[in-house]
This record gives sequence, C-alpha cells and structure tokens, in this order.
Amino acid sequence: MSVAPNRLSDVLSLVEKENPLLDCLTYPPLSQIGNTPLIPLRRVAEHLPDTVKVYAKAEHLNPGGSVKDRTALHIVVDAIRRGELTREKTLIDSTSGNTGISYAMICALMGIPVEIVMPASASQERKRILRSYGAKLTLTDPSQGSDGAQRHVREKVKNAGDTYFYADQYNNDSNWMAHFERTAPEIIEQTDGQITHFVAGLGTTGTFVGVSRRLKAFNSNIHCLPVQPNQAKHGMKGLRHMETAIIPGIYDNSLNDQDLYCSDEEAFTMTRRLAREEGTLVGISAGANVACALKLAEQLDEGCVVTILCDKGNRYLSQPFWA
Ligand SMILES: Cc1ncc(COP(=O)(O)O)c(C=O)c1O
Repeated sequence: MSVAPNRLSDVLSLVEKENPLLDCLTYPPLSQIGNTPLIPLRRVAEHLPDTVKVYAKAEHLNPGGSVKDRTALHIVVDAIRRGELTREKTLIDSTSGNTGISYAMICALMGIPVEIVMPASASQERKRILRSYGAKLTLTDPSQGSDGAQRHVREKVKNAGDTYFYADQYNNDSNWMAHFERTAPEIIEQTDGQITHFVAGLGTTGTFVGVSRRLKAFNSNIHCLPVQPNQAKHGMKGLRHMETAIIPGIYDNSLNDQDLYCSDEEAFTMTRRLAREEGTLVGISAGANVACALKLAEQLDEGCVVTILCDKGNRYLSQPFWA
C-alpha cells in the first residue's frame, strides 16, 4: 500500500499558478485537499476471512472535514479558469452543509464572497462553521429538504442578473471530475490495483459517478455499488433516497452494478462502532457506507472492498444516537 503522490501543486499548470486567485492552491490548507489515507478496517471486519479486505478512504481528514473539499475545489478552480468566477461575483449553491463549508473555506482564502442555501434543519455545528468562515447563510423550509434549497437558489439566481456564480453541484461536471481525476487514481494506487468492489453513498452522486467511471475504465470487472437510505424520511445527512428525490443531472445509473440500502439504525450503529472500535469519529453517511460495505463483504469468498468515510463526526455530536 502506498500513498498517491499527485499533490495538487504537481498537476497545476504554470498559467494557473500565475493567476492571482489560484496561487493559494500550492500551500495549506488547499494543498492538503486529497491524498487521503486508505484505512484497513480491523475490528469491525474481524469476522471476515483473510481473503476479504475492507478499506475506507479517510475523506474526513481533508482540511474542511469532508470529501466535499475535493468537489468544491474542482468546481471553483474550473470556474475561475473559465473566467466565470471572479472576486466581483458571489458564489451561491444549495448544499446539505459540507460542500458549503468547503466553498466557504476555499473562497475565504481567494477573497470571493459565498452564499449558502440549506435546509434550516442542518446541524447547528454546520451553521456555525459556515458563519465562522464568513459565508452568508439562507435557510429554507426543512420539510422540503435539499430539493427545496435547490429550488430556492434557482429562483434567486434567475432574478439576479450577473451578481452570482451558481456553482450547481448537482449538475456541474466539475463535481464528478474531481473524483475521476484524483480520488479514483488514489484508490487504484493505494490498493495496488487490487480493488474489486467500490461502495459509496449517493448525495449529489459526484463521488460515486466520478470514482466508478474511472475504476471501470481501469478494470471493467470492478463492481460499483451505490448506497442510499431505505426510506424517504431518514437521518443520513448528505444521502438521497433516489426514488423520491430530484435525480442529480450528473448521475449515471449505467455505472450502478447493484443498489445497496441502509436503515437509520444500521447507519447509527456503525457510526458508533467506528468511533468505539476503530478510533475513527465520522459522520452518519460514513456509517451507512461501512455498514453496506461490510454486508457486501460478508457475501464474498475473496475481494477488496473500498468505501468512503465522507465527513468528520464532530459535526453530529448533538445527535441523539450518541446518547
Ligand atoms: C455527509 C455526506 N455524505 C455523503 C455525501 C455524498 O457525496 P456526493 O455528493 O459526492 O454524492 C455528502 C454530499 O453532500 C455528504 O455531505
């Protein structure tokens, strides 16, 4: 196992380095985005045979605390490169919280104003982090979920002329490209090309689509299995129940080898176990991913299953399931 060497500074062209908005990419915190460790799950996977391994990509260790640092960085850099995003515009998007935190961190460094639209039900921790980075917050009806926040942004942008750059993570190809260009090559290198199954929850679907598309191009035998909540009303922040939600424009169901479903209870239980048995404090969608990865691994005679630890657990400490 080795860690992929492709730091962002290595892949930036000279032209990008010379853009004054982009020079901050080469030093922390932005240079720390990506190249996350791949953690072998030990105690929660100890019942599996030696021939079946389960690994978790530690995306919670990104500087903004989630996998969405990758998405936000790619969206912002691509938009700056195309001339669509400047300091004179406000970046606006709807998010369940994590992408907003990543936009806010990145744009604070670049001097670009940010407005985040999210359901009022988002955790206090997330709202406080966003405000701490200086982002403007607009809160929408919690009963309408992330789809309601999306509709609100569209209305606002429609009537606002040139004021905004609408990042539109649900329909922006830069979202899945972040994972196609970096996350997937890291996984291939860190597993020495041995990965057989990839398991990831669906939110904007960027992680699943970008990683799966690259993995299948590398080896068409790799199975890619998306995770979603088993009911429309659920407690897995960041994940979508695809039957009842707006399907993101970037989603590509042809990459899906088999749908995996998770209950709140399974996700909460695994989130607690990851803290108490693996020393890894992560969010509920990470618990859902690991729960599904383990259920899949239990059916295999041999294999190398990789899943994603989407975000840090300290954003959920006020949730009752910790009690
Ligand atoms: C906590 C959490 N988990 C999982 C996801 C899903 O990731 P993706 O949007 O790449 O599908 C998100 C997305 O917002 C998230 O915030």
